[in-house]
Amino acid sequence: MQYQSKLPNVGTTIFTVMGNLAQNHKALNLSQGFPNFKSDQKLIDLVTNAMNSGYNQYAPMAGNLELRVAITNKFEKLYNSSYHPDSEITMTAGATQAIFTIISTFIKPEDEVLIFRPAYDCYEPAIELNGGKTISVQLEAPHYAVDWAAVSKKINSKTKMVIINTPQNPSGTVFSKADMLQLQDLLKGTDIILLSDEVYEHIIFDDKKHQSACLFPDLKSRSFVVASFGKTFHNTGWKLGYCCAPKALMAEFQKVHQFNVFCVNHPMQKALADYLQEPEHYLKLSAFYQRKRDLFLSLIKDSRFKFTPAQGAYFQILDYSNINMENDLDFAKRLTIDHKIAAIPLSVFNADNLDHKVLRFCFAKTDDTLKKAADILNSI
Ligand SMILES: Cc1ncc(COP(=O)(O)O)c(C=O)c1O
Repeated sequence: MQYQSKLPNVGTTIFTVMGNLAQNHKALNLSQGFPNFKSDQKLIDLVTNAMNSGYNQYAPMAGNLELRVAITNKFEKLYNSSYHPDSEITMTAGATQAIFTIISTFIKPEDEVLIFRPAYDCYEPAIELNGGKTISVQLEAPHYAVDWAAVSKKINSKTKMVIINTPQNPSGTVFSKADMLQLQDLLKGTDIILLSDEVYEHIIFDDKKHQSACLFPDLKSRSFVVASFGKTFHNTGWKLGYCCAPKALMAEFQKVHQFNVFCVNHPMQKALADYLQEPEHYLKLSAFYQRKRDLFLSLIKDSRFKFTPAQGAYFQILDYSNINMENDLDFAKRLTIDHKIAAIPLSVFNADNLDHKVLRFCFAKTDDTLKKAADILNSI
C-alpha cells in the first residue's frame, strides 16, 4: 500500500527509545519525566468515590463545572487573574491535547510559529501537521537565557504564534518577570497568539515566583495558558490537563476540541475538583521537589559531572565534558548499557542537533532511587 507520511522526518520519540533501552538493560530510569512514587491515596479514593457517585458518563464539553470553578479560584488566589468558568477554561486529555488543539485551531499552511530550543518535543510535529513552519531561537547552555534581540529579529508578518515554556523542560530554567515584559513588548500591537506551556507552574525553586502569562495584561489577552494535573499530582498516566484563554480565543479552541475528543475523563475531573479545595495540595509541591533536587545534587557534588541547579520543573541538566567528549546520544546509550542508568541527551531538542555535552536527568524519583543514581554517577 502506498501512502505519503505527513511527518516523514519523525521517528520514535527519544523518551520511548531511552525508556526501552533502560528496560532492556535493567537500568535505573531517570530518562522520562514521570514520578516513580504514588499519587496521594486521598486523591485516588476521591476517584473511586466519583465513580461510585455516578460520574461515569460524558462530562460537559468544556469539562466538569466544579473543576472549572476550582481552577478559576486557583487563578484568582495565585495570580489575581480571572478566567470565567463558563467560557474561558477547557479540560483536556493532558497538556499534550491542549497544545495540539491550540496549534490545530490557529495554524494554517505557511504560518510561522516561534519556539525556544531545547524544546519539549510535541510542539513541532503539531505545527508541521498543520502545514506551519517552526522558527526556533536556540538557548545556550549552561544558563539557557533568552536573547530577546535575537527573538525580535525572527518575528515578522508571517509569525502567528509564539510558544513559551516556563519552568522549562528540558533545561529547568525559568522566565523572569523581565523576560515576560520583554515578550509582552515584542508582541504588543501584533495578532500573534501566545501558547504558554506552564505545566510545571507549581514546581519552582529558591523562592522564585512563577511568571504566568496571565499576570501580564497584554500577554493574557493573546494567551492560552496550558496546565497538567499529571505533573502536579504525580499521576501522569491519568492524562488530565486544561487550558485557559480569553473568551473569543477559547470559543475557537472549542470548535476543534468538540470534534477532537469532545470531553475528557469525568470521574477524575470530579475527584480533582474536590482535591483542589485544599490549595496546600499544590502549594507544597515546590518545597517537595526542591528537597529532591538538593538531595540529588548534594549526593553528586564530588562527581565529575558539572551542573547549574535547576530553577524549576523536575529535571537536572548534567554536563559530562570533564568525562569525555563523546556525542550526547552515544554517551546516553553507553551510560544505559554499561553503567545501568538512563538519561535524555539534549541535542535531540536543539537546533541542528547542537551538542552541548549535557544530559537531562529526571529527579521525580524516590530518595532511594536518587541515592542509587548518585552512586552510579559518582563512579563514572
Ligand atoms: C513541557 C511539557 N509540556 C507538556 C507536557 C505534556 O503533559 P501531559 O502529560 O499532561 O500531556 C509535558 C510532559 O512531559 C512537558 O514536559
